[in-house]
Amino acid sequence: MNKKYRKAIIAGNWKMNLLPTEVKPFAEGLRALLPKAKNCEVVLCVPFTHISPLRRSLKDSRIAIGAQDVSIHEKGAYTGEISAEMLSDMNTHYVIVGHSECRQYHGDTDFIVGQKAAAVLEKGMCPIICVGESLEQRERGLTMEHISYQVRAALSYIPVGKLRQCIIAYEPIWAIGTGKTATPEEAQEVCEGIRSVIRSQNGARAARSVSILYGGSMNAKNAKELLSMPDIDGGLIGGASLKTEEFAKIINAVSEVDGED
Ligand code: PGA
Repeated sequence: MNKKYRKAIIAGNWKMNLLPTEVKPFAEGLRALLPKAKNCEVVLCVPFTHISPLRRSLKDSRIAIGAQDVSIHEKGAYTGEISAEMLSDMNTHYVIVGHSECRQYHGDTDFIVGQKAAAVLEKGMCPIICVGESLEQRERGLTMEHISYQVRAALSYIPVGKLRQCIIAYEPIWAIGTGKTATPEEAQEVCEGIRSVIRSQNGARAARSVSILYGGSMNAKNAKELLSMPDIDGGLIGGASLKTEEFAKIINAVSEVDGED
């Protein structure tokens, strides 16, 4: 982390888990466990159906609301889709775009991901743009080539002045939900690479200000080591964000790393 230039963010990605009726007890439990000091932004990215109950449960709390996907369209005849304006109207501040599961199951291409990120920014919210390589790409030495393309494709849709509102999440596909985490050095290498792609496209100031998260089996045990790396500014957490105590420990790891600065 480098909090001089960018904010630390711990974002939970609930995916398709928990019920709307389970939101309130979860939010109350998490709030009770969180430290008072605001040393990092805490976000919960929940299913669309959970946003309303979450908003009620998080009243006067510092936890921000995030969604997991968005339509590229503004409004109209797109059955089943949710627009960026609908999300911002519900006090959503963050939206995950390009998660590998959306790329895999919904056919989101790099260009669609870029358009989704632009739609999110247009309505004043922050996109969390996910990128990551498959195991085969890593084994064949194609990791950085693949990720560099994903980042450049997505950012080609973003007006330069809005780059600072974007968050990039590096999530190696082989580490998602598998219990296999990238080592802090592996994760740092790619996050540093992402920053240098941004630097070469948009300059040093922009690169310095974009928060880059790591995601993929991050948990209470490995969070501190990962967050100690200079280019890892936080985490996007799936499984471990479904348990209040585990998630709170990851949030607390930010203060532990801070304490050592
Ligand atoms: P995981 O998921 O923490 O369960 O590996 C991360 C993600 O998919 O965002």
